[in-house]
Amino acid sequence: MEIKKIGVVGAGTMGGGIAQVCVGGGFEVVVREVADEFLDKGMARIRKGIDKWVEKGIVEAPAAEKMLAALRGSTDLADLYDCDLVIEAIIEDLDAKTQVFQQLDAGCGDDAILASNTSSISITRLAAATERPTRVVGMHFFNPVPLMKLVEIVRGEMTSDDVHDVIEELARGLQKTPVTVADVPGFVSNRVLMPMINEAVFCLQEGVATAEDIDTVMKLGMAHPMGPLRLADLIGLDVCLAIMEVLHRGYGDSKYRPCPLLRRKVDAGHVGRKAGRGFYTY
Ligand SMILES: NC(=O)c1ccc[n+]([C@@H]2O[C@H](COP(=O)([O-])OP(=O)(O)OC[C@H]3O[C@@H](n4cnc5c(N)ncnc54)[C@H](O)[C@@H]3O)[C@@H](O)[C@H]2O)c1
Repeated sequence: MEIKKIGVVGAGTMGGGIAQVCVGGGFEVVVREVADEFLDKGMARIRKGIDKWVEKGIVEAPAAEKMLAALRGSTDLADLYDCDLVIEAIIEDLDAKTQVFQQLDAGCGDDAILASNTSSISITRLAAATERPTRVVGMHFFNPVPLMKLVEIVRGEMTSDDVHDVIEELARGLQKTPVTVADVPGFVSNRVLMPMINEAVFCLQEGVATAEDIDTVMKLGMAHPMGPLRLADLIGLDVCLAIMEVLHRGYGDSKYRPCPLLRRKVDAGHVGRKAGRGFYTY
């Protein structure tokens, strides 16, 4: 099957970035938000992202014009029903995502592929809520989407080989490097990253070293571009805690228990950069 038109549900941090790389890849894109206010904000961010490509010389002005012409926003999910692929990037909530998947399943053509950008919800579960479980797949992009090269392609229990292959080729067409992973809690990315962050928080809690020194060890000793505690602040400590809880619940293994200090920071509202305060002050 050929993908020509892509729908993106949610124009937040991830949805906006996904829409931008999709128009950048030459696709016609329709973005859906819940209200005009969010849609306007999201569309403005996508346009700004394309302008930035022009400023940096990544894209010529006429090509940018074409991209803008291929981009449309809507608050009506029905405007996505004629898409060949819909990528869902709404809030990380099972009920909200299930509802969107069921609506898309009922409205979209039989051949359409439904993908989710979820970080932690089971693709198999979302697929099972539809009448097309073989045509449901995970496309896990990374923030900021225009810059980050990786897409984890999450194969649900019922995802067909054809759908997997189409999505893999699409990811390459979007100038990303796809890696196929099984539908397990945390996939590969968060299953490896989050326990490392959690362990760094344990080191801080136990007074093994200061936050700055823990980050310095990982930057200078392991060549990480950013220390785990600063990265946690960037991701959001609430997001980190939620993912640790998913891993802990999903595997039933105590090695994934969230560090009490991480929980305390979240309880205090010191959830990182977005709150002006986390392990560091901003
Ligand atoms: N932020 C990250 O670093 C990151 C990385 C990878 C994956 N993800 C995943 O991507 C998804 C989106 O995360 P985000 O950071 O972009 O969140 P966000 O809060 O920035 O954006 C979510 C957007 O979805 C909109 N929305 C909610 N319900 C909707 C609906 N029914 N229809 C259309 N729009 C709706 C909201 O108005 C909001 O603008 C989540 O599943 C998250 O787990 C996030």
